[in-house]
Amino acid sequence: MASINDNFLKLKAGYLFPEIGRRVAAYAEANPDKASQLIRCGIGDVTEPLPLAVREAMHKAVDELGCRDTFRGYGPEQGYDFLRKAVADNAYAGLDISADDIFVSDGSKCDTGNILDIFGKGNTIAITDPVYPVYVDTNVMIGNTGDADESGRYEGLVYLECNAENNFVPAIPEEKVDIVYLCYPNNPTGASATREQLQAWVDYALKNDTIILYDAAYEAFIQDPDVPKSIYEIEGAKNCALEFRSFSKNGGFTGVRCGYIVIPETVTGTSSTGEKVAIKKLWSRRTSTKFNGASYPVQRGAEAVYSEEGKKQVQELITHYMGNAKLLREACTEIGLKVFGGENAPYVWVACPEGVTSWDMFDKMLEEANVVITPGSGFGAAGEGYFRISAFNSRENVEEVCRRLKTHLA
Ligand code: MLT
Repeated sequence: MASINDNFLKLKAGYLFPEIGRRVAAYAEANPDKASQLIRCGIGDVTEPLPLAVREAMHKAVDELGCRDTFRGYGPEQGYDFLRKAVADNAYAGLDISADDIFVSDGSKCDTGNILDIFGKGNTIAITDPVYPVYVDTNVMIGNTGDADESGRYEGLVYLECNAENNFVPAIPEEKVDIVYLCYPNNPTGASATREQLQAWVDYALKNDTIILYDAAYEAFIQDPDVPKSIYEIEGAKNCALEFRSFSKNGGFTGVRCGYIVIPETVTGTSSTGEKVAIKKLWSRRTSTKFNGASYPVQRGAEAVYSEEGKKQVQELITHYMGNAKLLREACTEIGLKVFGGENAPYVWVACPEGVTSWDMFDKMLEEANVVITPGSGFGAAGEGYFRISAFNSRENVEEVCRRLKTHLA
């Protein structure tokens, strides 16, 4: 008899985005005349084509694989040197991060889940609420929590409430936690954290021997020059923080898959015998056994994001999506809704009209406006009463969403 990992039975429902997909598919099947009018602003999936520089680099890499002299088999598990170096030189210029600190992967969703492999049992883990659901579910799966209560909160996790009063950046906890997940610019609220706020988190982490898991997947969308793009801009962060980044949203790699974790040598955890051990060493070891690297053409494509042409083309994509975010913000504001985010992030976070729940809003938008949004409560109990609109879409679709918002919610 093969026993199963019972922790999976604690998971409350299906993963948020497939669940939304299921509800949308059921609606489309029951209303075939409406199916072609649906506009999807739920999952944050890019819509615009891959930058030309990326495509050219990938084509070239595929051709190399087609030739005996330039063919490559297994690559280094931690990523090719050319990409690790391009990341360190471009994304971390001036921040004293070396190529050797970069661990290339097939994306941040996997990385933020897989990182739990190297941490022990019994850590006190803090997450924000609302939150990217992957952080919660992966902790449930690995056995770091008890059961969920009625609001969906799991026993054993420390929930850091984010709300309009704290601008969706949580207060530093009174208690000591061992690991905290922070994501800025934030998914789902679109909020950004100031240098002072991040400094307070780093100071807390250094004082309490806490590791910060900093998800910066949306850093490319930051418009305000005063908002830090990396946790390593904050003094002391190299001693307490790992940073997760992705090519999904800047380079349009959601389908191509490539991301990386930055792990400075100076971030340590503690063994059961009290010895300080470099996280980097453990992650490198774990990677060698469990991963064979992102594919060569994909890594060449990612490298091209940092070429002169690549940078220009990525900037055009960012400008496009942030233009969408601005239109969505304006439309929601015009009809009297309270709007957050969308200024340094591709997500617009909107308060539902008084008395309307997040899932009611989801149904209303689907059935009346034929627009798919994400219910805020899907990201945690504190997301109740909000909904998220993704700015990842064509301009034409976003303009149509704005018209429909004004027609159906004004
Ligand atoms: C989202 O919509 O929250 C994102 O697409 C999730 C992800 O990047 O995995």
